[in-house]
Amino acid sequence: MLIALLPGDGIGPEVIAEARRVLEALALPGIIFEEAPVGGAAYKASGHPLPQATLDLAKRADAILFGAVGDPDCDALERHLRPEQAILGLRKELELFANLRPATLFPELADASALRPEVARQIDMVIVRELNGDVYFGEKGMRQTVDGKREGYDIMSYNEDEVRRIARVGFETAMARSKKLCSVDKANVLETSQLWRDVVIETAQEFPEVELSHMYVDNAAMQLVRNPGQFDVIVTGNLFGDILSDQASMCVGSIGMLPSASLDSNQKGLYEPIHGSAPDIAGQGKANPLATILSAAMMLRYSLGQAEAADRIEAAVAAALAAGVRSPDLGGSHSTREMGDAVLAALT
Ligand code: NAD
Ligand code: IPM
Ligand code: MN
Repeated sequence: MLIALLPGDGIGPEVIAEARRVLEALALPGIIFEEAPVGGAAYKASGHPLPQATLDLAKRADAILFGAVGDPDCDALERHLRPEQAILGLRKELELFANLRPATLFPELADASALRPEVARQIDMVIVRELNGDVYFGEKGMRQTVDGKREGYDIMSYNEDEVRRIARVGFETAMARSKKLCSVDKANVLETSQLWRDVVIETAQEFPEVELSHMYVDNAAMQLVRNPGQFDVIVTGNLFGDILSDQASMCVGSIGMLPSASLDSNQKGLYEPIHGSAPDIAGQGKANPLATILSAAMMLRYSLGQAEAADRIEAAVAAALAAGVRSPDLGGSHSTREMGDAVLAALT
């Protein structure tokens, strides 16, 4: 089994280093790692954020563990050369259309949540985010209006096949959990969302056991804070899922806690924390590596058939938190390395 490690920028390499140590400590037979540059680091080294050799490695690998991309030095580059294009390119090239972002409260972190502990304790949900379409991948550009003003535009669209395949992932995820699915859209305003809702309702016929509900995204953002315990599986589009998952992360304690899996239709996957390169704390040993370590666990479970090893990692993370390690985002002062050490010490 070949695992591609793509550390990227900012805190990416710092959190990937800890996840790699944890994976190596499991000593699983037949697993090899190969590392390649991506994002701003790749642009600075070779003039492109997603070099062909990195894309080839990602295609060859059985799974990809990704850190984060994004570098303030690159924000003025033409868009196709910016670091973020690397992750968007990987998702598109590998057809990783289904992004699973679980948000579950570790009981030890109830006091780290931005919500009251009794509200936070109810949280155990998965956001299923579509990853290959929406306003992210429509036609975009800058133009001049007739009266000479600058105008930027990004076309938002989904076709029915794109909605159906992510809806099925939503329903399947719900079937494996509590059989409740909430589809989040903005059908009161957007045609894209009207089609989304229609197709989700059609797809529901394939999953008669699942209780389907619909919610507008603005209300969903409010409900995530008011009563997050009502959600089990949320299925939503690319942009809404991006925003709601950052919000959900803070409900369970920190953006540094949320892992993700981005899957194609054959369980090939890219695994990454939901956070970015955090330039404000990069290089200071302050990054919480747990989201990346938990992403490695998802990788073992979904792409490498190693559910038991995944359980071991998740149990070690819970034990490390129970032992009291807290990086600054969780209100403590443990370093990235000390967080990794605590997980390693708790691995059984
Ligand atoms: P960010 O997620 O990088 O950081 C937001 C805030 O959360 C910052 O204050 C940061 O210090 C904190 N934070 C993030 N991860 C943390 C961790 N593991 N431990 C502790 N604190 C953490 O988002 P941003 O600041 O909006 O974006 C920074 C760069 O990252 C941008 O270039 C953006 O495009 C990029 N980005 C990349 C990805 C990705 O690679 N998938 C995801 C999001 C943002
Ligand atoms: C994420 C990020 C990316 C996204 C950016 C960096 C392209 O915010 O992975 O959540 O918007 O999908
Ligand atoms: Mn995001």
